[in-house]
Amino acid sequence: VEAILHALIPFKFVDHTHTDAVVTITNTEGGEDKIKELYGDKVLIIPYIMPGFVLAKLIYDMTRDVDWNELEGMVLMNHGLFTFNDDAKKSYEKTIELVDRAEKYLVDNGAELSFPRESVGTSSVHSSSNASALELQELAKIRKEVSTLKGHATISILNDSSLACGFANEDIQKIATQGPLTPDHVIRTKRIPAILTAFSSTSPEVELKAYIDEYEQYFQNNKTNETLLNPAPNFAILKNRATLSFGKNAKEANIIKDINEHSFEAILKAEKLGGYKALSAKHIFEVEYWSLEQAKLKKATSSPEFSGKVALVTGGASGIGLAIAKMLNSRGCAVVVLDLNLEVENIFNKADMIGVKCDLTSSDDIKNAVSKTVKNFGGIDIVVSNAGIFTPSENLDSLSDENWEKSMNINLTAHQKLIRETAPFLKLGIDPAIVMVASKNFPAPGKGAAAYSVAKAGQTQLARIAALELGEFGVRVNTLHPHAVFDTSLWTDEVLESRAKAYGMSVEEYKTNNVLRTEIKSDNVAELVCAMAGKVFAKTTGSQVAIDGGSDRII
Ligand code: NAI
Repeated sequence: VEAILHALIPFKFVDHTHTDAVVTITNTEGGEDKIKELYGDKVLIIPYIMPGFVLAKLIYDMTRDVDWNELEGMVLMNHGLFTFNDDAKKSYEKTIELVDRAEKYLVDNGAELSFPRESVGTSSVHSSSNASALELQELAKIRKEVSTLKGHATISILNDSSLACGFANEDIQKIATQGPLTPDHVIRTKRIPAILTAFSSTSPEVELKAYIDEYEQYFQNNKTNETLLNPAPNFAILKNRATLSFGKNAKEANIIKDINEHSFEAILKAEKLGGYKALSAKHIFEVEYWSLEQAKLKKATSSPEFSGKVALVTGGASGIGLAIAKMLNSRGCAVVVLDLNLEVENIFNKADMIGVKCDLTSSDDIKNAVSKTVKNFGGIDIVVSNAGIFTPSENLDSLSDENWEKSMNINLTAHQKLIRETAPFLKLGIDPAIVMVASKNFPAPGKGAAAYSVAKAGQTQLARIAALELGEFGVRVNTLHPHAVFDTSLWTDEVLESRAKAYGMSVEEYKTNNVLRTEIKSDNVAELVCAMAGKVFAKTTGSQVAIDGGSDRII
């Protein structure tokens, strides 16, 4: 949108930034005088005017008689800093120099944060503070309500960094309701946040409704012939606690969180420099409803099926779970992957896919993983209960207690614990679903596999009861029974040989021992999980579907 302006500047390279230190100073009472005091007449100061063509035209008019070679840079009030040179590095270095001077000016004038700024810019993935179970429920409720208001599943990221908490503890009615640092932020953040008295008796519905009313009023006050955009907030301040950012996916919510971090710091510093003073609502409206800014947002293509949704997948460090986690994520889902294997934290370490080391036989470990999920993404919509182990083949007359108990702990009890810990969040989920990865060993058990088959039978029964209990809350629970999926860690050569022997077959015969004579891959299972978690199974609960190439023992 600024291409015309850049073209008017008679140098080969132009650096254009909304640098924090400069916009901090310009967004204060008497900001223009402060910029003059800081840079003298070597920097051209342009009063705020809407970006784009009118700004370019104003600068053209203002600089007809100016010798650009005499200028070090240009500050656009409430907007940003420009430097220029025929040499790219020199232009860049000039930006750094001018920003350094602005940062020093802030320090010299006492505009510093009064608390440590430890986690600015880091992801909340490793956020350590412990939210209580009730607080997590409240966060899920807010996300549900915001999703409803936006008309689609929404990711909600909790920011409880010292900076966000410090900001939320200030007089936010004064400092958070003025508007953004630069109007360019408005298309991401909207003009102002919702202010929520979180974890109190006031329900988020009431406060969010008040936000919507205020937004609609702002639209009425400023519109000419524009169409109202969705009025739901893009971020919220949880009074005295933390902040939240909302996006149609984790990427978008993270962009807003990032802008927030910069804005909170700038606003707090501006408060110490005579008081934060943003542009008028009218100016912000002009940019928010400007067709060129709107076009930036429209560029985004249509959303994939699981966009804005949150899944928790167990046993995802290898095999079927790994394939499920990747496939859900490739279809737009934010995924938290739980596994006993610490490697899971290396495999999944990005904004919308997080690995969490978790022993699913431990209630505390599951609680911790659920807490991380809700803080990072706002809630839980999909639970894929997949983790399992295959214990050694032993006939009943010699089945060891250890074998039996080990299988029961992970193949049965862990699923029950997982449902208990996630059900309260699924009830607040968007089109929520549980998918149970059981086994063909339930409908067609094998000799020597009592510990495994009985646990899988219990897991299947658990899913049926969950379907009955959670149906009234809209939570669907469906089970799939895979068989002979060989691209997983379950199938060591040893296990494969022993199972083949139990059926009196060679390994090769055992591998293709199904009606379709087809090989079943982890990706095929993941495909069925996505169907069960998504709209294909929207009207189905309590079902069991085999993915085994057809078993003559079952058919
Ligand atoms: P896999 O061994 O490749 O993956 C299972 C994952 O679960 C591993 O990453 C493992 O670290 C994790 N895990 C084990 N115990 C855990 C615990 N206590 N806490 C957290 N994570 C734990 O196995 P695969 O084949 O991908 O199995 C996935 C599920 O599919 C299992 O429930 C299995 O019973 C079921 N299944 C697999 C079949 C196959 O042929 N591969 C056939 C029928 C069912």
